[in-house]
Amino acid sequence: MSEATANIGVVGLAVMGSNLARNLASREGNTVAIFNRSHDKTEHLVAEHPEAEFVPTFSYEEFAASLTVPRTAIIMVKAGAGTDAVIEELLKVFEPGDIIVDGGNALFTDTIRREKAVRETGVNFVGMGVSGGEEGALLGPSLMPGGSDESWVTLGPILRSIAAVAEGEPCVTHVGHDGAGHFVKMVHNGIEYADMQVIAEAYDLIRRATGKTPAEIADIFAEWNTGDLESYLIEITAEVLRQVDADTDKPLVDIIVDQAGAKGTGGWTAQTAIDLGVPASGIAEAVFARSLSSHPEQRATTGVLPGPAEEFTAFDADAFVEQVRLALYASKIVAYSQGFDIIRAGAAHYGWTIDLGTVAAIWRGGCIIRARFLNRITEAYAESADLPVLMTAPFFREALAASQDAWRAIVATAAASGIPSPVFSSSLAYYDGLRAGRLPAALIQGQRDFFGAHTYKRVDKDGTFHTLWSGDRSEVEAVDTH
Ligand SMILES: NC(=O)c1ccc[n+]([C@@H]2O[C@H](COP(=O)([O-])OP(=O)(O)OC[C@H]3O[C@@H](n4cnc5c(N)ncnc54)[C@H](OP(=O)(O)O)[C@@H]3O)[C@@H](O)[C@H]2O)c1
Repeated sequence: MSEATANIGVVGLAVMGSNLARNLASREGNTVAIFNRSHDKTEHLVAEHPEAEFVPTFSYEEFAASLTVPRTAIIMVKAGAGTDAVIEELLKVFEPGDIIVDGGNALFTDTIRREKAVRETGVNFVGMGVSGGEEGALLGPSLMPGGSDESWVTLGPILRSIAAVAEGEPCVTHVGHDGAGHFVKMVHNGIEYADMQVIAEAYDLIRRATGKTPAEIADIFAEWNTGDLESYLIEITAEVLRQVDADTDKPLVDIIVDQAGAKGTGGWTAQTAIDLGVPASGIAEAVFARSLSSHPEQRATTGVLPGPAEEFTAFDADAFVEQVRLALYASKIVAYSQGFDIIRAGAAHYGWTIDLGTVAAIWRGGCIIRARFLNRITEAYAESADLPVLMTAPFFREALAASQDAWRAIVATAAASGIPSPVFSSSLAYYDGLRAGRLPAALIQGQRDFFGAHTYKRVDKDGTFHTLWSGDRSEVEAVDTH
């Protein structure tokens, strides 16, 4: 049996776990115990990285015995049944006060369930969102832990030491209790879907309307990355567009099959938004855009379904590119505003206290949606923590005022010329929906009352009403059945 020499352990040594373990081992004061179901991964990691001075273990008993108390283990295994299996094994060898951290991409409702069950044994369970992929895990991820205040006392210093650093601050905070960390990570991924889709729409519009090559559009994105849009995703977009395929000498983007994959977290975000009644249309459209791309059998209707007679050509390419930039910026503001709305609604529903400004701050480094822009979100919530809609903060309101004409022009052009722009256009519809003094929802309530006696409220007096549609069509007071 190992002596208890390790202050932290990692279970699951595939890409993420092995990199996170190396990150932990590289920080002053950490000794890292490692365990993987298949022993070859453990042996391989120890052999490849002697500098990490790992404590390799080959049974859960040995793993627990190698950890100092309170034992702290980060699980990085395939989310779902794998996570439950590992928790079950750890609970056999851990004691009250010990800490199990799940760093996998768990659905937050699973985390709520697991936290409740594990708490009954006296062991602390922390669901932690980890963003940044392989490189982030090794060099510094953005970390979103939930769980109890007690476990944060032990975990805080360790997590601060391995997280990415943005403007001198580690990209980690105790997001909130039980499933709050995984919830926030899920919304992060939902925003990521929308952010990637608006970039893709901008590229497509520029390419189709100006005829510029991918390499020329790469230059445009590189230029955009020096301004308000500066972000990791814009930066890597330029890299991808510039890449030339070695086999064919063509732009790689033209060789890659145009069907986008997804691992589910965008869909979870959209589904959660629907469940919470939050109109996160940009995120949902981004998820649907990937689904549409991945149905070649349906897309074979090209040439069957009629489109506009002529393709659009931008008369002034530079002016068109600038309009696209503004449309992208405006749509991105909407996507983030919707994402933060989901977090606010989730916090209210599940009883979490989540500091929205701090969430924006810990996304500035390590994660995929890191961007200059996030500072503005932190400032907006610092000024007004109860801001009902993020995009109404002065900075964003002014940005939208400056970009809305271009945004409308681009959405109109896209519609007229048959270029799909689902997130550009749905974001604009959402924006105009919020602006509208009066919505046709009144008519929908009338229809609902007609076929289902669902009742309605009146603008001119209190109470709930129903029209006797199949009778004499007089109005009666009714019980609210909304
Ligand atoms: N990849 C990313 O960019 C990223 C980013 C953030 C979070 N995550 C999350 O991090 C976690 C790890 O991701 P990954 O890509 O490194 O690995 P993965 O491919 O998702 O999972 C492989 C690991 O899970 C273990 N495992 C699977 N089922 C198990 C079970 N029933 N009992 C014990 N161990 C089991 C495997 O052990 P064996 O070697 O024995 O098969 C292996 O160590 C996942 O939850 C993932 O969603 C990934």
